[in-house]
This record gives sequence, structure tokens and C-alpha cells, in this order.
Amino acid sequence: MGQIFRARAHSKVNLHLGVAQVRGDGYHELSTVFQSLDIHDDLTLELLDDPTAASITITVDGPYAAGVPTDSSNLVWRAVELVARRHPPVALHVRKGIPAAGGMAGGSADAAAALRLANAAFAAGLSDDELMKLAAQLGSDVPFTLMGGTALGTGRGEELVPMMARGSYTWAIITNREGLSTPVVFDKMDELRAKNRVGDPRMDTTAVGQALIGGDPQQLARTLANDLQPAALSLRPDLRKILESGENAGALAGIVSGSGPTCAFLCEDDAHAQNVIAEVTADNPGTRGHIGHAPAPGAELLD
Ligand code: C5P
Repeated sequence: MGQIFRARAHSKVNLHLGVAQVRGDGYHELSTVFQSLDIHDDLTLELLDDPTAASITITVDGPYAAGVPTDSSNLVWRAVELVARRHPPVALHVRKGIPAAGGMAGGSADAAAALRLANAAFAAGLSDDELMKLAAQLGSDVPFTLMGGTALGTGRGEELVPMMARGSYTWAIITNREGLSTPVVFDKMDELRAKNRVGDPRMDTTAVGQALIGGDPQQLARTLANDLQPAALSLRPDLRKILESGENAGALAGIVSGSGPTCAFLCEDDAHAQNVIAEVTADNPGTRGHIGHAPAPGAELLD
């Protein structure tokens, strides 16, 4: 067996997701506050001794493996090639604990972890700054998932400034079977905005920043905001009932996570989150619940 490298990829929630107009390049200008969550994928990269092996193979398992591509359309493939165009054959394995197409940056986090794995396995010697630049080429959320913690994201989400955050927050994360496509949700938001069916972009993150400094979940709960939520609810009316169930179950606050369809409920502690999960999943067949804690680290090598 060849040498094996391991890494962990953490998911994220957007505590605040302000979305402005679409830019000339098709991306929307964002003002977002990211916080990483300990719900994670585990990756391994094996350096294969057999020089005739395929240059990259990908296998996937775990609770959210369904539908995850194992070809070059998987961002981990592109991440490995960005670190080294020519490299020894590698076998990548991803254990999916983060829902795919769920608005939790699972695919982006895997790409961030793959950058770290390839950097270590090929002894490429890339600095964190260099890895951040490669991350931005892979996708808007990849730089944050590489960095982790709590950060303000501007530009298309790739320009990051770490934010001060006290305390830790407990989330009841409710996933469901069918994913949502991020570009479709952004397009829907543009359509709703053109029809004056949604409010102005919320680009001011002062309130959430202050709540994070205070470290009080009740205060943070009052500041959560997601400009993509009306679009996600319009595409997926079933999410409305999930948000209502969470409210009825006594969550401090609930939002659609990123572009959805995962819904995230801020809770007081694990026992509270467990109760919210029990009620919401009982009310909404086909949903699953996970407890998440934030902030978590960025993509990290294990061992
Ligand atoms: O950057 P990434 O490839 O993850 O983005 C996927 C899609 O999401 C983009 O092609 C675009 O349609 C949409 N998007 C956007 N504005 C952003 C980030 C993503 O419109 N800031």
C-alpha cells in the first residue's frame, strides 16, 4: 500500500448572507459572515506505487455519498491538478458527512482539504497564501472552508477578513433528501428582485458582528439574515414548514443555510438542539438532523 494522507473538511453556515446585484462576470457581490461547523467530511489521499495506475481515482462513501461525482467534475480532482499538473497516481477517498448540494459548502470544503492533501503528499511547499489563491480559482466558498473559524466575506465570497467571535454556538441542522442548485437559487433571487418581491440587499453586517463579540446566542439569533432565503423558499415551499416546525420546537432562530435546502436552527445547547431535531424530523418526513458546533477549524491535515 502507498503512503496515505488524511484530512478533515468542515462545513459552514452563513450567519449573515447579504446579496447585491449580479456583476458582469455572473457572480453576485456578497457581504457575508461565515462560521465553520464541526459537521465534516473525512478525506484520504493515497500515493499509489503503481506508475501505470490512473492518475486520479475518487471513491465516495458515508451518509451523504449519493449523487457525489467520482470523475473530474468533482472539485477535489481539480484541486489536486491545481497543486501539481504532473503528479504520481493518487487514490482519493471522501467520506461524506456533509449533505451534498445542501448549502453547507460540502463540495468546497472537500476541495480545500484536497488542496492541503496534495500540497503535503507531493511536497509542493505551497504557503497558506498560495493555497488561498488556488482555492479562489476552485469556487467562491473554497477559501473560507480552507481558512475556517469566523470571517467576513466580500467580493463573490472569496475576499476574507477574520472576525472576532466569542463563545461557541450550537446548531440543529436539518437536511433533506433533495438538494438545490446554487446558481438556480441566485437566478431566482434576481427574478424575485426584478419583480420587487424581495427587499433591498442587506450588506451591513454590524449587528451580527456585535452579537459575535457579545457571545450570547440569544443576541446572535436576532441578527441572522439570508437574502437567498426567499428564493430558496420559492423554489422549495417544503422548507417553509421546516422553518415553522423549528420555531414551534423553540429554536432561538432558524434560517435556510446559504442557498439551501439545509435549514439551520440556533439552539442553547446540545439538549435543546436534540429536542428541536426530534420535533422537526417527526413533523417533516424525509428530513434528518445533526447537531453542529461553531466555530470549527478550516480544512486540516490529520495525523
Ligand atoms: O463560485 P462557485 O462556483 O461556487 O459558484 C457557483 C455559482 O453560484 C456561480 O456560477 C453563480 O451562478 C452563483 N454565485 C453567484 N454569486 C456568488 C457566488 C456564487 O451568483 N457570489
